[in-house]
Amino acid sequence: MMNRRGVLQSVGFVFFFVVVHHAHGDLSYSVQEELKRGSVIGNVAKDLGLEVGRLSARKARVDMEGNERQYCGINLRSGDLVVAERIDREEHCGEKPSCVLKFELLLENPLELHRLSLQVQDVNDNAPIFPKDVIKLEITESADKGAKYRINAAQDADIGKNSVESYILQQNPHFVFSIQTTNAGSKYGELVLDKELDREEQQEMKLLLTAVDGGSPQRSGTVVIHVVVLDANDNAPVFTEAVYTATLPENSPFHTPVITVSASDADEGANGEVTYEFSRISDKSQKLFSLDEKTGEISVSGDIDYEEGSKYEVLVEAKDGYGLSSEAKVIIDITDVNDNAPVIYLKSLSSPIPENASPGTEVGIINVQDRDSESNGQVRCSIQQNAPFKLVPSIKNYYSLVTTGQLDRELVSDYNITITATDEGSPPLSSSKTVQLSVADINDNPPVFEEQSYSAYVTENNKPGSTLCSVSARDPDWRQNGTVIYSLLPGEVNGAPVSSYLSVNGDTGVIHAVRSFDYEQFRSFKVHVMARDNGSPPLSSNVTVSVFISDVNDNSPQILYPAPEGNSFMTELVPKAAHGGSLVSKVIAVDADSGQNAWLSYHIVKSTDPGLFTIGVHSGEIRTQRDISESDSMKQNLIVAVKDNGQPSLSATCSMYLLISDNLAEVPELKDISYDEKNSKLTSYLIIALVSVSTFFLTFIIIILGVRFCRRRKPRLLFDGAVAIPSAYLPPNYADVDGTGTLRSTYNYDAYLTTGSRTSDFKFVSSYNDNTLPADQTLRKSPTDFADAFGDCDASPEVGTGATYRWSCY
Ligand SMILES: *[C@@H]1O[C@H](CO)[C@@H](O)[C@H](O)[C@H]1NC(C)=O
Ligand SMILES: *[C@@H]1O[C@H](CO)[C@@H](O)[C@H](O)[C@H]1NC(C)=O
Ligand SMILES: *[C@@H]1O[C@H](CO)[C@@H](O)[C@H](O)[C@H]1NC(C)=O
Repeated sequence: MMNRRGVLQSVGFVFFFVVVHHAHGDLSYSVQEELKRGSVIGNVAKDLGLEVGRLSARKARVDMEGNERQYCGINLRSGDLVVAERIDREEHCGEKPSCVLKFELLLENPLELHRLSLQVQDVNDNAPIFPKDVIKLEITESADKGAKYRINAAQDADIGKNSVESYILQQNPHFVFSIQTTNAGSKYGELVLDKELDREEQQEMKLLLTAVDGGSPQRSGTVVIHVVVLDANDNAPVFTEAVYTATLPENSPFHTPVITVSASDADEGANGEVTYEFSRISDKSQKLFSLDEKTGEISVSGDIDYEEGSKYEVLVEAKDGYGLSSEAKVIIDITDVNDNAPVIYLKSLSSPIPENASPGTEVGIINVQDRDSESNGQVRCSIQQNAPFKLVPSIKNYYSLVTTGQLDRELVSDYNITITATDEGSPPLSSSKTVQLSVADINDNPPVFEEQSYSAYVTENNKPGSTLCSVSARDPDWRQNGTVIYSLLPGEVNGAPVSSYLSVNGDTGVIHAVRSFDYEQFRSFKVHVMARDNGSPPLSSNVTVSVFISDVNDNSPQILYPAPEGNSFMTELVPKAAHGGSLVSKVIAVDADSGQNAWLSYHIVKSTDPGLFTIGVHSGEIRTQRDISESDSMKQNLIVAVKDNGQPSLSATCSMYLLISDNLAEVPELKDISYDEKNSKLTSYLIIALVSVSTFFLTFIIIILGVRFCRRRKPRLLFDGAVAIPSAYLPPNYADVDGTGTLRSTYNYDAYLTTGSRTSDFKFVSSYNDNTLPADQTLRKSPTDFADAFGDCDASPEVGTGATYRWSCY
């Protein structure tokens, strides 16, 4: 608040201010016109009890009503109301005795509006001005003392004390000056004749009239009154009315007649000819109205705008040929026409607005203004229906734009909200404004895999690094909130971390094998792949990827019995009395592959006597094809091939040595039996050999039979054609040759092998710590191991069971 007029006035103003504040709940300040920019008017923050520190955050600002020039501003750091632009009281308020500028202080969060009014106080910045530089008066010499001659008053744009206060007429012997007030309240001057004129003495005179105002410093203006002394009689013109009033709708076109003033003069001829002119007219009115000098018709000569001015007052002077004049006042009232559409101002907008804003969040503030008055200026606001927003009327012409529902950027990311304002004029005018609001992303969507689970099929022995499959997840969020990164969730497969089996490309979701898989080790496993977005905090989901390994025929059959070649110690004893179809032995083989790849078939590829033995294609059982005859060679040699059914198939061969004999003891040098490959060479000596061997053999059998009746012998390992297969030869994952290919995973199991119609049961209970048979490592047991396995066993004959022996191991 600026005040330079002493303590008393300050006190007076403070009193006034306090009264206004309490009466309206609003603030009123007083300011002198013509202050420099930045001059402090008052501290609104203090006066309204606002927190100075929050002014900036609450976007405090000053809005002039009607969006005129911005005269005031607010200093957000101090809360001071300051002059933002030179205020010219005369420009803004003209002659009005009181000049009040109204504006609003606006704060957001929450929306708060304070009405402020600014009393603009006059400063003596204008000097009195006479309408003309020279006033010409023609006065007859017969005029009596006391005769009055009208002089137009000087004008001073300032008001009150600063307007014209007094006139000083140059010292002269004939005239004095006095001020008069008309009925309508306007002032004019009169030149009063104090001493009669004498044309013969003085034909004319020039008098200087000075008008001074009461301001400080005092300002003045002058006019020269040129008095011409005439010697004829004259009458002044007389107006028909002292005050003329006219009504004019705004926007009236040029040359529209407003009103015609008329004055009559009693004189005749040139003396009675009346002309009219504006004697007092504001600059503003001057541009709008023109006066026909001859007819007295006032017509429109500018744009009449009710919003610029609703009432004009001018003074019209009528003058006759002698210069005698009179004055009348013309009041022109402008009527409003609904010519201004409402204007929508977007006062604030929070865009983008986060999509998780709760319903009812204020996103913007809208102000609607219509410059027309009364119902022409009454405005209703509406908003398009299909958007989740509504307008909530706030204070005065303010509306809050608030959300009515939950936003979802993934559905609608931008809104063009159209607001329409319509006034109540007739016809009504309306306007609309589109507010663009964008919705900001929140990381509210986790990545979602396109499939519920994924399966990958890979054949074993794959190359490390080969692609198994790819997973893909979508995240509709924006930028990094929707960027998906794939990774393996930690876990174990067969005791090893999953990362040693698979890797996933973080960007593409392509899954690669890290190593070569072995079907014989495991046939399938599961891993969990996580898709995580890059938001903070990130969201994630996971999916199961099942990897199925398919078999490749990469394992050849393994012959468990008889022992691999080179161990010629393994010899089967075939009783001489064996009939055709007797089970002699059995080839036992396994294949670590599965299905067709492990379906084994047995073939005799070479034999000493091709007609003597057959092998079961799938059982591997070696049987005699016919009765043994004396002529058969004692040593029989078979080469058996075991093939699987894979594509291509793999095979293994073994040799089986058979001794046609009833007594092991009669076998000479077992070791010599091996590698009897050169059978063909013996053909030539067949007859000789047969004779000698037969003779020897018959003799031998007679002796043996004799001995046998005398005493029993100790049991032998390889006894009597019964096939005993120690279970130590069987790997725990032994796949049933004819079987369904299921892997046994039990650590302990029982194996019963009944290898012939002739009973010989062996039950072995074995324990293994490792249930896997490494592919590259076949189970080998040397004959020594074999013997050891039986070393701890107690074998004893059971009475009455004949050729049946029970072995037990502990
Ligand atoms: C909103 O308006 C802008 C410009 O007028 C346009 O580019 C955009 O596509 C509009 N958006 C919608 C959602 O209609
Ligand atoms: C991602 O979401 C978070 C909130 O979850 C938000 O702050 C951030 O701006 C979003 N990022 C983008 C790029 O939209
Ligand atoms: C994987 O997803 C399931 C539900 O889909 C959830 O329960 C589990 O916690 C997730 N695991 C991890 C490690 O994120």
